[in-house]
Amino acid sequence: MNEKRVTVPMVRGMKKKGEKIVMLTAYDFTFAALMDQAEIDILLVGDSLGMVVQGHDSTLPVTVEDIIYHTRAVKRAAKRAMVVADMPFLSYQITPEEAVLNAGRLLKEGGADAVKVEGGRTTAPAIRCMTDAGIPVMGHVGLGPQSCKMLGGHKVQGKTASSVRALLQDALAVEQAGAFSMVIEAVPWPVARRITERASIPTIGIGAGPYCDGQVLVFADMLGLFTAFQPHFVRRFARMGDEAVQAFHAYRESVRNGSFPTLDESYSVDDSVLQVLDELTKQSPDTHWS
Ligand code: KIV
Repeated sequence: MNEKRVTVPMVRGMKKKGEKIVMLTAYDFTFAALMDQAEIDILLVGDSLGMVVQGHDSTLPVTVEDIIYHTRAVKRAAKRAMVVADMPFLSYQITPEEAVLNAGRLLKEGGADAVKVEGGRTTAPAIRCMTDAGIPVMGHVGLGPQSCKMLGGHKVQGKTASSVRALLQDALAVEQAGAFSMVIEAVPWPVARRITERASIPTIGIGAGPYCDGQVLVFADMLGLFTAFQPHFVRRFARMGDEAVQAFHAYRESVRNGSFPTLDESYSVDDSVLQVLDELTKQSPDTHWS
């Protein structure tokens, strides 16, 4: 057991102490190691990998196997951060028993420290069964991208009286079912603030304003790697996409004009080996080189 790892009680304690929880999505070893080095508290192997890594136009095609594969890579890098694995579409909605089995796989085979599920009142029975089985669960209310077809797109939630009422009931259901924290996505800040004040578990916002107990962003958005569109709530903390394209251009030109690689960037051999090389290559062309 890594004594330094961020744990469920630590995340709960951060809310009590008023310390902000910092979460980012992570899908691979290289970026997860950099995030761990930067002391990001929670790495979420989000099903957003369906769009960011796999190039789908929604998260719906992502499978339990996909999440296990990426969770393993992230977990190898995370020395301090808690690793939360997203439960993909239809891995927890059918029966609570299936939810427990699939969540168990994410912990046993993927090495996740916790799982995350979308939904409120409808998902609560599955959350209860998973937490009863000893699996820490992070809820996710507000906009659930897995319901984008029902919602008619990625739309802000909680903007009408009936939607606010449903959102509050969902948040309460998630808390009462035993979740240790919950993501609030795409919700007006006064609504997210009120949920945060009322909830005993930490809230982690994305497009939910500054008053949540923590924040999460998709790493490719905040690094400026994914630029096809930029949601209103995303801040770009770097422009790595532009830098990468510049580097690819420079590489292409260096290969084409012969300035890469130099001899310093190549391997050499001793003179005695060069002599053998000369002798071998002086022989007639039909002689076998051995
Ligand atoms: O999959 C994901 O990236 C998420 C975040 C948006 C919270 O669920």
